[in-house]
Amino acid sequence: MVRLNNNSEIPQIGVGTWTLRGETARQNVRLALEAGFRHVDTAQGYENEAEVGHGIIDSGILRRDIFVTTKVATNIMREGREAVRKSIDESLTKLKTGYIDLLLIHWPVRDCVKDTWQVMEEYVRQGMVKSIGVSNCNRHHLDDLLTYAEIRPVINQIEVHPFMTQEENIAYNHQLDIQVEAWGPFGQGDIDVVGHPLLQSLAEKYQKTAPQIVLRWIVQRGLITIPRAKPNHFAENLGIMTFSLSDDDMKAISALNQNLRSNVLNDPETFPW
Ligand SMILES: NC(=O)c1ccc[n+]([C@@H]2O[C@H](COP(=O)([O-])OP(=O)(O)OC[C@H]3O[C@@H](n4cnc5c(N)ncnc54)[C@H](OP(=O)(O)O)[C@@H]3O)[C@@H](O)[C@H]2O)c1
Repeated sequence: MVRLNNNSEIPQIGVGTWTLRGETARQNVRLALEAGFRHVDTAQGYENEAEVGHGIIDSGILRRDIFVTTKVATNIMREGREAVRKSIDESLTKLKTGYIDLLLIHWPVRDCVKDTWQVMEEYVRQGMVKSIGVSNCNRHHLDDLLTYAEIRPVINQIEVHPFMTQEENIAYNHQLDIQVEAWGPFGQGDIDVVGHPLLQSLAEKYQKTAPQIVLRWIVQRGLITIPRAKPNHFAENLGIMTFSLSDDDMKAISALNQNLRSNVLNDPETFPW
């Protein structure tokens, strides 16, 4: 568990659900929870909140033992405060979880963050949302938000993998007492992160798999992460808490940095607004 600046806790590893739809999403969430995950990441934009909610119910696991994150979609942010309110109400209805553990601004859409954030703060005050945070924010986005935020973001969810280590951004978030959550730990499967010879050789050295080496590198940096996977990978992805990487190996993995995003469109500075 990682403690957040509002004193709540989030499981350090969760499951991502981007691209999962319909019955696949429902089953994937149930099986992830059965495998031991207690943290599920979805978003309005993934169009699977209803199925994520069904998967949680199907698992039979107590609501209070599960941490659910969703995110306000960019198109909704552009429509203004009333649309944001309506979308959060809809997320609550679809998820069927009674409350949302963590609600994030999905992308810092220019000129729309303040209105969205202030609506999100309303939902925290009403108790419908426990924690709020952001995603894909660089330093200047955080600086701007903090000029008016009455509630400090607990988390910034950003792209982090060995080719995109985000050291400066992460250090700045930590300085602000904002935890960092790594999305796309394997480069979304679009760039071959785990095939890198260093990760392959470390896998052999530690008798683990290359994906486990990557996830271990992430959690050992104190980050939270949410790999998306098929059920045959769940146990493997959860099995990273029982070994550690040496300081030298941590540094060697970090040295793979190329500031390479899995997709050029994922740059918050040029994201198609
Ligand atoms: N905030 C944002 O803007 C944002 C953006 C992107 C993603 N996210 C969140 O972050 C989550 C994770 O990112 P992502 O889905 O983009 O990509 P990812 O987790 O980096 O990569 C998913 C890919 O990794 C493979 N994989 C997972 N575990 C594996 C293992 N043990 N061995 C081999 N391959 C493995 C999966 O294959 P299999 O399916 O075959 O297991 C899948 O092809 C998303 O699902 C979403 O919830 C957030």
